[in-house]
Amino acid sequence: MKEMQRTVTCGELRKEFDGKEIILNGWVHKNRNHGGVHFINLRDKYGVTQVVIDEDASEDILNIANDLKYEYCVAIKGIVRKRPDSMINPDMKTGEIEVSAKEIVILNKCDTLPFMIEEESKANETLRLKYRYLDLRSDGMQKRIKLRSDVAYATREYLNSQGFMEIETPTLIKATPEGARDFLVPSRIHPGKFFALPQSPQLYKQILMVSNFDKYFQIARCYRDEDARGDRQLEFTQIDIEQSFVSANDIYKMTEGLMCHIFKKTMNIELPTQFQRLTYMDAMNTYGSDKPELRFDMKLQDFSSYVPNSDFSVFKTVLDNKGAVRAIVVPDAAPDYSRKKITELEEIAKQYGANGLAWMKVTPEGFDGGVAKFYNNQFTEICNGLSAKNNDLILLMGADWKTSVTSLGAVRKQIGIDRKLYDPSTFHFCWIVDFPLFEKNDEGNWEACHHLFSMPQDHYLDTMEENPGEVKGDLYDLVLNGYELASGSIRVHDPEIQKRIFSIVGIKEEEAMEKFGFLLESFKFGAPPHGGIAPGLDRLVMIMAGEESIREVIPFPKNAMAMSPMDDCPAEVDPEQIRELSLKIEIPVKEK
Ligand code: AMO
Ligand code: AMP
Repeated sequence: MKEMQRTVTCGELRKEFDGKEIILNGWVHKNRNHGGVHFINLRDKYGVTQVVIDEDASEDILNIANDLKYEYCVAIKGIVRKRPDSMINPDMKTGEIEVSAKEIVILNKCDTLPFMIEEESKANETLRLKYRYLDLRSDGMQKRIKLRSDVAYATREYLNSQGFMEIETPTLIKATPEGARDFLVPSRIHPGKFFALPQSPQLYKQILMVSNFDKYFQIARCYRDEDARGDRQLEFTQIDIEQSFVSANDIYKMTEGLMCHIFKKTMNIELPTQFQRLTYMDAMNTYGSDKPELRFDMKLQDFSSYVPNSDFSVFKTVLDNKGAVRAIVVPDAAPDYSRKKITELEEIAKQYGANGLAWMKVTPEGFDGGVAKFYNNQFTEICNGLSAKNNDLILLMGADWKTSVTSLGAVRKQIGIDRKLYDPSTFHFCWIVDFPLFEKNDEGNWEACHHLFSMPQDHYLDTMEENPGEVKGDLYDLVLNGYELASGSIRVHDPEIQKRIFSIVGIKEEEAMEKFGFLLESFKFGAPPHGGIAPGLDRLVMIMAGEESIREVIPFPKNAMAMSPMDDCPAEVDPEQIRELSLKIEIPVKEK
């Protein structure tokens, strides 16, 4: 190899190299034979160079050229020559030149490809993941993995410049409930005992504050045994951050600085230095989501004042049951929305628990279609109240408050996409603040909205137990383009308040000591007030790259079935390994 090791990359030759002998190493991207003249596009990480094998080349070279197939890995020695003006390819960085081959060595052959290496692989995802090493050769994957690396670098650059220290925390830890299901690792040395993989470094970063590290960060791997959906993975990466002696405002400022730096450094985009802030209640009431897509308006509006004067009994019953009736007005949409299209929107609403989706269109003669007949008696009031005009479509939702706003919010989001109401290449950040600290789970018990270590806002401290549902936390989310990008909070550092929170969510003192004893103990030794945040790195890069699947920005992701088709994991292991771990496997028999 030594004598055929590259002297230049496939991306760097320009006309100034004219006449020079060079060596290229790379993969055969294309090999065309035009009447005996071979044109080989040789590709490496840096670009593509056209290599020409002239008709009068030696028989050896011609024979090798005839053998070359897609993705053969080769070394080519040749002379750079300027292309005539008419042959210059402005679409190629190296389009001013070509290389006349003098020697070709095949470094490695390539089997028949399962799919072509193109700008973006067109194969189905299973095939792409099975042959991920080939998929990663595509231009698109190369660019996205590069972006990911650049984002991680910019993160370190910024946080270091702000005095943060990067500290690793263990990935074999004690199982502590944090919301999702844990991945467990059996201990061989201590039969019957288990480590867990961290869902996040939450407890450790808090303890690092107790230990006076003051400003911590880590690009941390996190593990959650949950369904792998579009923006979720079983293992993912957080930009995990914690600071002592801070307020929520300090965390907002630091995070805004971090995002501005990342976007400027990696995409040359200037973000506003301060991001919009919305309370949780405003976000829910106005956009029907705690991660609203704010790149278009179309707000949810209250429709309840028009219900009593109408005979539409569905909404009357909803209000009698203390529910809510909300509306959105879709501008100029009446001609475009057939009954079938509205039924499709209704299906989306139903996925969020709605019973239906009522509608009517604004015409010069009054409301038309759907529930029009129930509301024509209030035509002018409704149009004025909702700012609806001729040709608008009005969609109405009645249900309990949460269902009415979230289901109509989902419909709003879909309409935004369908009607192209915003420029998808733009970025809009927003803080969601004043989240409730507790919410009721399906069994009717209180649980933490975020995690158990978030501080209630000061003015709820005395009366927290009286009505947990009313308590707002010092906790916040950062939303980007309709995705939850980051979550964080000011933490509880007082063991007494922590105990009261455990008690509200029904964790007994012994249980708390057993599960989080080490954290609670540490708080007894002068724990400083502290807080932090954790943006998801995968999600951030996914949104920056304009992708909808997190798998597009992870080199080796798990598929939607929580498996890796390339290395076929999870997989069975040697029974001896199981025995060593003192485990017994009982696979439940599937019901037919
Ligand atoms: P949280 O659980 O909200 O907070 O996670 C923070 C961010 O991590 C990303 N994220 C995920 N990304 C991919 N796949 C997943 N399964 C996944 N789950 C979460 C999201 C999310 O906003 N310890 C706290 C943070 C803190 O309070 O400081 C935590 O983990 O972008
Ligand atoms: P119905 O009278 O049940 O046939 O419903 C008339 C219209 O109201 C249909 O378009 C339903 O989808 C819609 N609808 C029914 N229940 C609700 C509800 N709770 N909220 C909004 N629309 C509803």
